Amino acid sequence: MVISIANQKGGVAKTTTAINLAAGLAQVGKKVLLIDADPQSNTTQVFITPKVEVDLSRSLYQVLLKFAPLPSVITETRYPGLSFAPSHIRLSGADLELAQAFDNRSERLKRAVDEIRDQYDYIIIDNPPSLGLVAINSFVASDRLLIPVSTAYFALTGLDQLQETIEMVKQTRMNLGLSILGVLCTFTENTNVSRDVEAQLRSFFTELVFSVTIPKNVTLEEAHSRHTHIFEHAPKSSGALAYQQLVQEVLAR
Ligand SMILES: Nc1ncnc2c1ncn2[C@@H]1O[C@H](COP(=O)(O)OP(=O)(O)OP(=O)(O)O)[C@@H](O)[C@H]1O
Ligand SMILES: [Mg+2]
Repeated sequence: MVISIANQKGGVAKTTTAINLAAGLAQVGKKVLLIDADPQSNTTQVFITPKVEVDLSRSLYQVLLKFAPLPSVITETRYPGLSFAPSHIRLSGADLELAQAFDNRSERLKRAVDEIRDQYDYIIIDNPPSLGLVAINSFVASDRLLIPVSTAYFALTGLDQLQETIEMVKQTRMNLGLSILGVLCTFTENTNVSRDVEAQLRSFFTELVFSVTIPKNVTLEEAHSRHTHIFEHAPKSSGALAYQQLVQEVLAR
């Protein structure tokens, strides 16, 4: 199953969710490929040693713009069962470069992913906070979307736009099978705003909203700076327990 972690709003925990969901699925014995499709390369920076530049020729740029096969950019991580395809800052120009391309500009990632999808139980794609052609490539390549929404402030308007994009991807027949796997409440805390946003999400998206919510928890941020996932950095933290429960809910859906 190919799952895109998507929300065009920035800072809602897409990257944090992509990393910890992928790591958590690998820990329960699944074979997982994590793809960083965000030019900001935040996921990539977690998995590579500090200061090591990602080789452009071994990044997703090469797959989207030069038709390189995905296996040529995949690297193994030090975590059993977890493989990784890095992004590159050059991807920031890829929306424009793809817009000028005529051949299958929305389907390039899908073609690359389809060639290897039976080698993995789960392929998780981290996406940029935008709805450009790179994100469209991810949506077309994906079976399901997992949408993290921050409950730290009222910002639900962007969700309409995301829904419209999903409809567009379907209506243009680019990916008729695309559907929402779930909506994930992130940055939950004991405040009126957080409770209200969560309640609104549950009343609008009903059973699509995961039961588990991801609490605001500084260890999740620390794990990134230690270049690892939460289960290694702070396995007993509230963040680790929450992402562990998310893994179980994803397995069950
Ligand atoms: N539950 C949490 N508690 C505390 N900090 C968190 C939590 N989840 C994520 N963070 C931190 O918040 C920041 C934003 O999270 P993250 O990078 O995952 O969001 P994003 O949606 O991927 O952002 P962008 O749209 O820029 O890609 C990061 O510094 C991350 O470490
Ligand atoms: Mg991110």
